[in-house]
Amino acid sequence: MSNVHVFDHPLIQHKLTYIRDVNTGTKEFRELVDEVATLMAYEITRDLQLQEIEIETPIGPAKSNVIAGKKLGIIPILRAGLGMVEGILELIPAARVGHVGLYRDPETLKPVEYYVKLPNDVAERRLIVVDPMLATGGSAVEAINSIKKRGAKNITFMCLVAAPEGVEVLTEAHPDVDVYIAAMDEKLNEEGYIVPGLGDAGDRLFGTK
Ligand code: URA
Repeated sequence: MSNVHVFDHPLIQHKLTYIRDVNTGTKEFRELVDEVATLMAYEITRDLQLQEIEIETPIGPAKSNVIAGKKLGIIPILRAGLGMVEGILELIPAARVGHVGLYRDPETLKPVEYYVKLPNDVAERRLIVVDPMLATGGSAVEAINSIKKRGAKNITFMCLVAAPEGVEVLTEAHPDVDVYIAAMDEKLNEEGYIVPGLGDAGDRLFGTK
């Protein structure tokens, strides 16, 4: 799967250990998710295009690079995806933020969209769809369907922890989407939780249960 990238950066792996730990409280969990999102965004944006401009340093004229090309958009999948937004904005403060909300239909168990709000130039932006957990892949696939329907073309998906089952579902449905993962775990359990995972990311981020 050439468009799947698993990070092995020591700082990401270190912070992820404490994110997983059941003894990590809400405040620290949030801070760590923020930090890992920043580190992942740093890695993901390595290939951004540059353009040379002319500036004056205190010593004299210089040619120097600034970011060029497509502007960025961050699309958290509600609600747990919200936990990764601030960390990315830390590096890319001018990025626009769209939202996709999905609920699970109790009959079909399939994700159904209930809220979508995107930047109006979504077709021209490079979009990073974020959700801490890629479990069955159902929400990620549906969120990307939603934004493609509205014109999105250049899409990257970023999560903290993935199950192999979810990665397969996502890459099969959207082979054009690059998938960035901090850790690939073992499997899903019968309740749809990633094993060993980190529990319910939304509950741990927002202190609900
Ligand atoms: N969503 C979560 O928050 N955790 C999982 O393990 C799977 C889906």
